[in-house]
Amino acid sequence: MTDLQFNANIQPFIRKDDRPSLEEIQRMYSLERIYKLQNNENPLGPSPRVVEAINAIAPTLSYYPEFSDIKLRRAIVNVLGDELTPEHIFTGCSGFEVLELIARAFLSSGDEVILCSPTFTGAYSRVISPLGAIVVDVPLVPETFEYRVEAVLGAINEKTKLIMICNPNNPTGTVIPADKIDALISAVPDHVLVVADEVYHHFVDDPAFPDSIQYVRQGKNIAIVHSFSKAYGLAGMRLGYGIARPEIANYIAGMHRGFHQNKLALAAGIAACEDQAHLRHVVEILRGEAAWVCEQFDRLDIRYWRPAANFILFETKMLAEALEQRLLERGFLLRGQARNNMPYCMRISLSIREDNQAFIDALEEILGESST
Ligand SMILES: Cc1ncc(COP(=O)(O)O)c(C=O)c1O
Repeated sequence: MTDLQFNANIQPFIRKDDRPSLEEIQRMYSLERIYKLQNNENPLGPSPRVVEAINAIAPTLSYYPEFSDIKLRRAIVNVLGDELTPEHIFTGCSGFEVLELIARAFLSSGDEVILCSPTFTGAYSRVISPLGAIVVDVPLVPETFEYRVEAVLGAINEKTKLIMICNPNNPTGTVIPADKIDALISAVPDHVLVVADEVYHHFVDDPAFPDSIQYVRQGKNIAIVHSFSKAYGLAGMRLGYGIARPEIANYIAGMHRGFHQNKLALAAGIAACEDQAHLRHVVEILRGEAAWVCEQFDRLDIRYWRPAANFILFETKMLAEALEQRLLERGFLLRGQARNNMPYCMRISLSIREDNQAFIDALEEILGESST
């Protein structure tokens, strides 16, 4: 036993599986129901065609899936168009796994990864740090959350391997415009890969949003991360994909274990790609809800950042941690942003009107109580 040596190149996080379940929270606070507004999920669910495809596949689960994910990659390319081929795509069991595969493909101990906080730092660290690589933070401009291209370029050295860009950015909901990404891509040295995490791209209607796929077509050092968890409404399925030039995509796909994608995920992903009408419907409704919640925040004199995604960052008039607890006691699960060094900010994932209305009512009540 004493001779047992763990892999010295991996520094795992400490396992935590003691978070209370939704049922436990419900019981703990005697709640009639829970409003799950903390994970930027899609309250409208997946396409009915996805559910049909899953039901059709379920009885065949005693057989292995197809060895290759090529049919799914073809379906993805049909949606993306833009002269991409299935060789530009590699799939992952979630966007998170796509990030992990990229990290494993490029990072060794002592390498550096640039990210710009506040961003999806927790998850990025989770894939970077176990490999012994180091996170270098080049914060966004405070308050406006503008991207500082020159500062990012200035932070690059020979150890830099990846630059993480989250666009639209989580948790701010803001967009990094095309001119900044152009400036970055045209100046990064050849040994650096830009990772454009665009899992919320479907929700964007800002014309300044970059067309990152053009950089892939031009053969630049970029890997784009997409997910089926957000607008496609398949967070529970754990399916995502990366887009990169074939040299990169093929290398990363070569790291997949055999039968990497399960049968349900393959069928669901293909059916989701084939129902773009459902996707458009989801996006239209959630954009409408974003506008409505922003109006309510205006009415309540709450400061927020106009979102390009299915969530909104807003300022809390008390410590976000205290508001988080008071909302929790009423059944609303939201994410306070102390973890991102914004102790007076919170993020709400947009839901259907009934839930958003219930949240606004609860918030108004809590703010009323604390001002008296
Ligand atoms: C910015 C960002 N990237 C990636 C992910 C990972 O998504 P998933 O692993 O569900 O595909 C999330 C999930 O919330 C996210 O917010």
